[in-house]
Amino acid sequence: MTLVDVHLRPARPDDAETVARLHADSWRRHYRGAYADAFLDGDVVADRRDVWTGRLGSVPAHGVTILAEAGGESGALVGFVHVVLDDDARWGSLVDNLHVTHELRGRGLGRILLTSAAAAAAERASGAGLYLWVQEQNTAAQGFYRAMGGRDVEAAPIAPPAGEPRWLNGAPRKLRIVWEDAKEVGA
Ligand SMILES: CC(C)(COP(=O)(O)OP(=O)(O)OC[C@H]1O[C@@H](n2cnc3c(N)ncnc32)[C@H](O)[C@@H]1OP(=O)(O)O)[C@@H](O)C(=O)NCCC(=O)NCCS
Repeated sequence: MTLVDVHLRPARPDDAETVARLHADSWRRHYRGAYADAFLDGDVVADRRDVWTGRLGSVPAHGVTILAEAGGESGALVGFVHVVLDDDARWGSLVDNLHVTHELRGRGLGRILLTSAAAAAAERASGAGLYLWVQEQNTAAQGFYRAMGGRDVEAAPIAPPAGEPRWLNGAPRKLRIVWEDAKEVGA
């Protein structure tokens, strides 16, 4: 595996469009089967733009968004992670989104982003735990989380994107992946 040359920085309000585009591309590639094709082939960028404009536009009291940008001249966005600190009384801080650009998967960037998110949670959250939800059909991401020391503890129904039941494909499920202590992530 060739490690990627990236640098990390906190997201700013004017990053919303770029993050939304990477997020939409990743959903289209990896959430098919759980989300309806009609949703994924529609204006997913607009859906994600609304979310990221809201998230990055306000002072983030409980949210941390870390961007990875390519080193060298390009400086392009190549991945991001968002954490909601102290989201759950039992399971701790929530990794709400983690996506690496398609071309750079499998080169260590997911590990860099997840451990950075875990470090932010360990430093700023009051609870020790870290958790996330992964779609049941996304077995590649589950392999990654297991390699990072996470364990799945339960399954639950996936909520429809944008709250629209017709944009779900059947009744897909998600798995809760947990680390009792954020400091154990990737150890
Ligand atoms: C899931 C994702 C974030 C992982 O990032 P990545 O950069 O591809 O993963 P890395 O190269 O950092 O891999 C880290 C470790 O996980 C392991 N791993 C990665 N993918 C794996 C897989 N499919 N099965 C088993 N192990 C895997 C690697 O072997 C590596 O182990 P090591 O560090 O002990 O050698 C990335 O592939 C991605 O963005 N996927 C599409 C979007 C997505 O599904 N996001 C998660 C939504 S919940």
